[in-house]
Amino acid sequence: MGFGRGKVILLGEHAVVHGCAAIAVGIERGVTAQATAAEHDLLRLSPWGLSVRPDPKGDDPLERAFAVALAMYPSRPSLEISATVDLPAGAGLGCSAAIGVAVLDAIDGALGVERSRTDLATAALAWERIFHGNPSGIDNTMSAVGGVALYRKGDALRPLRSNKPLHLVIGYSGESSSTKDMVASVGRQLDNDPERVNKAFEGIEMLVRNAELAIEAGNHVALGQLFDLNHTILDSLMLCTTKLDEMCQTARTAGALGAKMTGAGGGGCMFALAPKHDEALRLRDVLGEGAFVAEVNA
Ligand code: PMV
Repeated sequence: MGFGRGKVILLGEHAVVHGCAAIAVGIERGVTAQATAAEHDLLRLSPWGLSVRPDPKGDDPLERAFAVALAMYPSRPSLEISATVDLPAGAGLGCSAAIGVAVLDAIDGALGVERSRTDLATAALAWERIFHGNPSGIDNTMSAVGGVALYRKGDALRPLRSNKPLHLVIGYSGESSSTKDMVASVGRQLDNDPERVNKAFEGIEMLVRNAELAIEAGNHVALGQLFDLNHTILDSLMLCTTKLDEMCQTARTAGALGAKMTGAGGGGCMFALAPKHDEALRLRDVLGEGAFVAEVNA
């Protein structure tokens, strides 16, 4: 069975596309996939009821991504891959990357290909490029490798260690957005006003550096404050929505140590940091439909 995790970017999204560091976690929810020999190549995605054939020139990015994935295995039988997606799409949890990782992992399994999860992540970047154009690589890497880690484009992933688990509560705004469009919007802002946007990136990089220390020291009160500050900077880049902002405020008022939007923004998800497991369950109920708890061990 192939598996690709969902991911939550704790700090540093968007800035990471432009070379800054980001911290992300892999979560238990994700995508599972199974590959079996078949008469022709087919990818089924449930619960969406979607079936696609590979097509390098297809209109649907899934057709093109599937063709790119299959082309990595030059001599092979035709394969039918059944994937089950347990993540909202377009919601900032790295759904497309998790599908890519799960599909490649399933094909590896069916063909007896053995490789490390890091090599699997590298292969999945080609899949991710079909969807995002200019991905930083954080989604496919965290999806394949998991844990809590500091990521910078071009550098080896740096796993962070702590003896204190992170009690995260993830809330879904119900609004979906396109990562490609949101990344392009920040790119345009950078072109039009480099001074302002580079200052925002520098601020984010500083928050990431401090968060690295806070995670390793188990200082979740400080970490929560850093999340709040990162949220404010992302808001200044016009990535936040009223709904996401309200959800973060609700979580803070209900006792979260900090809260921020996560991923591309313009909709999608936010998360809150709870001081303890039972408080995380309470915050989940406060955040309403679609919210769930992710306990992450560094
Ligand atoms: O919203 P998601 O899960 O696609 O996350 C995107 C993260 C960005 O930093 C906005 C883009 C990237 O490639 O790193």
